[in-house]
Amino acid sequence: MTDQNLFHEPVLKKEILALLLLDDVQTVFDGTIGLGGHAEAILEQFPSVKKYIACDLDSEHLAFAEKRLSKWHQKVVFCHTNFSEIKKVIQSNDIPRPFVILLDLGLCSTHVDVPEKGFSFHADGPLKMSFDPQSERTCAHILNTASEKELVQILREYGEEPRAVKLAHQIVEVREEKPFQTTSGLREFIEEHTHPRDRKKTLMRVFQALRIAVNDELNVLEQTLRSATEVMMSGDRLGVISYHSLEDRMVKRFFVLHSRPKTEATDKSLHEEVAPASFRLMTKKPIVPSEAEIEHNPRSRSARLRILEKI
Ligand SMILES: C[S@@+](CC[C@H](N)C(=O)[O-])C[C@H]1O[C@@H](n2cnc3c(N)ncnc32)[C@H](O)[C@@H]1O
Repeated sequence: MTDQNLFHEPVLKKEILALLLLDDVQTVFDGTIGLGGHAEAILEQFPSVKKYIACDLDSEHLAFAEKRLSKWHQKVVFCHTNFSEIKKVIQSNDIPRPFVILLDLGLCSTHVDVPEKGFSFHADGPLKMSFDPQSERTCAHILNTASEKELVQILREYGEEPRAVKLAHQIVEVREEKPFQTTSGLREFIEEHTHPRDRKKTLMRVFQALRIAVNDELNVLEQTLRSATEVMMSGDRLGVISYHSLEDRMVKRFFVLHSRPKTEATDKSLHEEVAPASFRLMTKKPIVPSEAEIEHNPRSRSARLRILEKI
């Protein structure tokens, strides 16, 4: 793979710069550095940043971002790690405040455009779907080894697939004859076992479900939101851009819950306020891309940005 293959348009860049970043921000934890698009814009516009922590599971993305951000090499610390390790990363670095955390979840354009990464049903590649290309946990491994019950759960919970039971049964039947190995093999299987009218939606739901399972995305997100709020101090901000409703629902619930006063059941009331809220919800409604951004970058269409601030 060459650098020419690597391109990703940073989503909601203007909104991130205007709403998430504080004028005097000193440290940024960018859990999803990707190709460094947001990072470049932030470092350009906020010279107050002293330390930029850049994490990613994809070492090729990290290497590309390192070159792109070489101008700021004294400020940027690259970490080949899961963003769920935020606490460890924070503990091993001295973190000047105010501190901003950015999670731009989901796929980079390269995941879709580079067939060897094995995410896309539009091209033929190995059935991988892991954000970490070196990981042994692949989509093929899950499809070929998970029990029928586990497959039903994956398709139902992560893909909201109405035919989860039927498809899981057919996967188990088919893999006995011939294990799943490629993205086009999985695509052909779905097309053969789905009414033409439902093919596109089923392809999207099944590929999404398996990708979420391979990367354990929802558990990782939940754990990270918890850890992030535990390391935040007064004035620090957390911004999350999500791209599908399961992630966005989780972020929304978590942010709403944390921005409410703490209540307990007492003799007087079931929800007596016992402590004021320790976070402020900065986005009552999610920030979404403008029509102009969607026209320029159709892949931004499903993005939702939510921001939480520690009081
Ligand atoms: C949407 S892209 C980020 C794009 C980036 N903001 C930019 O402007 O170039 C998401 C990135 O997060 C990475 N990623 C996904 N899940 C991750 C996780 N749990 N921990 C660390 N990196 C992750 C992916 O490998 C990908 O590079």
